[in-house]
Order: sequence, then structure tokens, then C-alpha cells
Amino acid sequence: MDPLQSRSHFARAMPARLDMIQSVSGLILALFMWVHLLLVASILISKDAMYWVAGVMEARFLSADGHGYPWLVALFALLILVVFMVHGLLAMRKFPANWRQWQALDSHIRRMQHGDTTLWRWQAVTGFIMFFLGSAHLIIMAMDADKIGPHLSADRFISEGLWPMYLILLLSVEIHGVTGMYRLAVKWGLFDGDDPRRTRTRLKRLKIALTLFFLALGLATFAAYVKIGLEHAPQAGQRYQPGLDQSLAPGVHSPEGKHG
Ligand code: HEM
Repeated sequence: MDPLQSRSHFARAMPARLDMIQSVSGLILALFMWVHLLLVASILISKDAMYWVAGVMEARFLSADGHGYPWLVALFALLILVVFMVHGLLAMRKFPANWRQWQALDSHIRRMQHGDTTLWRWQAVTGFIMFFLGSAHLIIMAMDADKIGPHLSADRFISEGLWPMYLILLLSVEIHGVTGMYRLAVKWGLFDGDDPRRTRTRLKRLKIALTLFFLALGLATFAAYVKIGLEHAPQAGQRYQPGLDQSLAPGVHSPEGKHG
């Protein structure tokens, strides 16, 4: 084939390829977020449950000294950061580029009164918030991978003052993730079946149910970390030791290298 012709074919296929990368990276991130929220919510069962989950994440069971390998968590956080950046940058190419385009979009949304177009605006706003707060959270997780556990995580909410960031991030993630999955299903016609209109109504109901479920779970988890963070504030920075609740034993210091 003529090289000029093949180059123009490559250029023509580019937008579709970028669209596909955006969809796949979004799917990976949404699935990751649901698993992540379930793992972080282990604090609702007990501090020991969250301590155990953190231990599995850093493969504590594989290390002879029981310290685990926090760099595994750091590496994973950096990997997610890369997927996150790719997804965010690809999404930004569809943002209106200037004020006039924003105004045109706004009046279009008003005139159309079309639910899925309004959803796009919510995706753009929550995505923009997440681009900054999510990156900050991922960088903190990568740098403090050895400081994840029922007490040190709760200390981050209260003693390190990060609770407003977590609250805003939580609301954005819940809306963005489920809405994104719904839009993916509609865009690629995943569950169209015999009657796409009926399928879309069902998908909308599922979207609302999932959003409410993850919002309720996320807010309950948030409340649990805030409560522990408040109780643990006098001993902020002390790691959790299974079998010894330090909120009842002020002044107890965990041995070097213990996690939590
Ligand atoms: C490998 C990557 C990640 C790891 C290891 C991780 C780990 C954690 C941990 C341990 C917590 C508990 C609080 C703390 O220790 O500071 C937490 C909370 C949270 N994370 Fe992540 N996270 C990751 C990625 C993300 C991403 C990409 C997002 C969203 C963009 C996110 C959103 C949140 C939210 C909203 C909370 C608060 C949950 C709540 O209060 O219900 N995380 N994460």
C-alpha cells in the first residue's frame, strides 16, 4: 500500500482508537473503584478485618518477619495513576475549549432537556474534580504505602485533616463511576437485546440502585474512619496492634515495623 495512503488510514482510525482506549481505561478504573470501596469498607466489620485486608495487599503472609512488602501497594498505586492519567487526558480532549463553547453546550443541554446529555456534564465536572483529588490520593498512597491500616488510615482523615478531600472525592467517584459504566453500556450497545428501549430503562434503574448502594457504603465507611480518627487523635501516628485496642491504652507504642 502507498505509505501516504496508509498514514492517512492510520490518522482516520485514530479517533476511534482513542475512544476505545478511553472506554477500556474507564472500565478498568470503575471495576477497580468498586473493589477498592469494598476493601476499604472492611473497617465496617472491624479494625482487625481492615488490618487483615491491608496485610493481604502488601503480602504480609509471604514475608518471614511479618512486615510485608508495602512497595507492592506503592507500585500498584503508580500503575493505577498511569491508567488514571491516560483516561483523564483522553476525556479532556472532548471538553469545550473556551467560554463560547461552554455557553453553546449549556444552551444545548437546556433546550434538549435530554437526560444522557445532562449526564455528560456531570461526568465532566466530577471527572475534573477527581483528576486533581484522585491524583493527590494516589501519590499519598504510593508514598505512604507502609502507613495503611485501621489507625493510621483513620489518622489521615482527622489528624492529617484530609476528611474534606475524601468526602468530595467519594461523592465524585460514586457519581462518575456508575454513570460511566451506564454510558459505556449504552455506547457499545452491550445489553441492547431485542428491545433496546426497555433495556435502557432497566439500565437506568440499575444505575440509580448501584449509585445509592455505593454512596451509602462509602458514607458509612467515611463515618467509621472519622469516628476512629477522632478517638485515636490523642495517639495519632501509633500503629494498630491486633488484640490490643490502643484507643483504650494511651501511651502504648507498637514495635518498629508493625503495621496498621
Ligand atoms: C492503588 C490505588 C489505591 C490505594 C492503595 C488506595 C487506598 C485507600 C485507602 C487505604 C483508603 C483509606 C484511607 C487512607 O488510608 O488514607 C482509601 C480511601 C479512599 N480512596 Fe483510595 N486507594 C487507591 C486508589 C483510589 C482512587 C483511584 C480513588 C478515586 C479516584 C480513590 C478514592 C478513595 C476514596 C473516595 C476514599 C474514601 C472512602 C470512604 O471514605 O468511603 N482511591 N483508599
